[in-house]
Amino acid sequence: MLDVKKINLNYGSSQILFDVSIKAKKGNITCLMGSNGVGKTSLLKFLSGIQNAKNGTYFYNNNDIFNLPSYKLAKLGIGYVPQGRDIFPLLSVKENLEIGFACLNKKNWFIPDEIFNLFPILKKMLHRRGGDLSGGQQQQLAIARALVAKPSLLLMDEPTEGIQPNIIKQIGEVILYLKKEKKITIFLVEQYFDFAFNLSDYFYVMQRGKIIIEGDKEKLGKKLLKSQLSF
Ligand SMILES: Nc1ncnc2c1ncn2[C@@H]1O[C@H](COP(=O)(O)OP(=O)(O)OP(=O)(O)O)[C@@H](O)[C@H]1O
Ligand SMILES: [Mg+2]
Repeated sequence: MLDVKKINLNYGSSQILFDVSIKAKKGNITCLMGSNGVGKTSLLKFLSGIQNAKNGTYFYNNNDIFNLPSYKLAKLGIGYVPQGRDIFPLLSVKENLEIGFACLNKKNWFIPDEIFNLFPILKKMLHRRGGDLSGGQQQQLAIARALVAKPSLLLMDEPTEGIQPNIIKQIGEVILYLKKEKKITIFLVEQYFDFAFNLSDYFYVMQRGKIIIEGDKEKLGKKLLKSQLSF
């Protein structure tokens, strides 16, 4: 479904990604792990069209989408839950969710009940300002906002970062629901090992802008994967 080859990405003169190749199989949860500052978010920004790469290829359902702008990728079904959530603090929860309408036909400009079934707290807080929600609630809002746009691929950047265990558990259940019931393909960036290991089918580990290891969960196993992450 997603097929990226040999991506090089620079910020000015400093190179961040070096020949990064990744795939995400339809219906799978693919996870990218790696320590702080290795380039995980930069890759997701590229995948969501926020940041251009210098060279490489990017295909999505066999369409060439290399360096297309984010609104075009969103229309093609690529949803993005950014690290740090990027909630609009002065807009209400409802208005934040409606941002997701931008890439839909007008007849789809409504928030499906399913969103509130997944995140009941958002229904209660519909008229609160986004900035007044707790970190965990903002994370739920960021996921819900991405879902409003009806993605077929969801890119998620460290959804558990700074979140308490009961909300993490809930987010994990939502991710599995999206995979199993909604058939959404998920590309997850995560540093919380047990969370990522339990959810994901396939793993990539990044170190200093390069993929150093990849494989199926069964093939890699917990021990090997963990050892690659403790440098
Ligand atoms: N807009 C930018 N301009 C210049 N350098 C940047 C920019 N954004 C990120 N960087 C640098 O690129 C490198 C990779 O950053 P990135 O955010 O992709 O890492 P990360 O793996 O997501 O880290 P973390 O786990 O802390 O979120 C870092 O050295 C960072 O300082
Ligand atoms: Mg990051």
